[in-house]
Amino acid sequence: MNNRPTQLTEEEKKLFGDLMPEELEEIIQTGLNRRHFMKLVGLASAGLLTGYLLGAERAFARGVALGEIDELPAAAIENGVNVSFKVNSATTRLMVDSRMTLLDTLRERLGLTGSKKGCDHGQCGACTVIVDGNRVLSCLTLAATCEGKSVITIEGLAKDNQLNPMQEAFLKHDGFQCGFCTSGQICSAVALMKEAKEGQASYVTANVRQAQTSLMLSNEEIAERMSGNICRCGAYPNIVAAIKEAQTGKSVEQIWLTI
Ligand code: FES
Ligand code: FES
Repeated sequence: MNNRPTQLTEEEKKLFGDLMPEELEEIIQTGLNRRHFMKLVGLASAGLLTGYLLGAERAFARGVALGEIDELPAAAIENGVNVSFKVNSATTRLMVDSRMTLLDTLRERLGLTGSKKGCDHGQCGACTVIVDGNRVLSCLTLAATCEGKSVITIEGLAKDNQLNPMQEAFLKHDGFQCGFCTSGQICSAVALMKEAKEGQASYVTANVRQAQTSLMLSNEEIAERMSGNICRCGAYPNIVAAIKEAQTGKSVEQIWLTI
């Protein structure tokens, strides 16, 4: 925070003008201070920023759909390769450094910041996205290898303002606290449904020789299959309950009612 005059863009002026009209002049004159910040936090906690975020997301989605992605100057890219792939169903073409990860491409080039960078070493699962139906760690995936593929991120799971059933279940069961791991958890869980449907075995599958489809996963199976997604807040029981409800389609008792 500083107390220097702030050069606000027209969009920022409109945003602060809508959210905090009485403070707009003060922000322009003296900059953002702690009181403004706390008010913004209060608005966010009350969910009153959601409309703005959804609006920004829709505007961004339109930009991606129309191919309006800011290209970096050629000098800023070393070893550039052109990549064409689908991101949340929108065809996307851009030039990336051949060493750039999918995670950095999504976050830094496409503005899709839902996928999180936790460890950047393939150890936490916060960056999990779905590529051609399978869950992958986007911090260990080079964007250049996604040519022709379809990438789904947390931003692409809801359709027509209708949350994906897995998102609904995470909300119902409080499958998160701080939320940092949540986009990775949900993408991982959505792809897990496909693995179970195809009968893919896991480390705790009782009989790997017995071919099966449409596996109904036990709590133990869900925990094992989600073990690549770390939650520092320890929301694991709620995450398992949410996945179980989404998979069975039947209501699962909320954890706090069973204690
Ligand atoms: Fe990719 Fe941690 S950020 S696994
Ligand atoms: Fe905080 Fe999982 S909800 S790390």
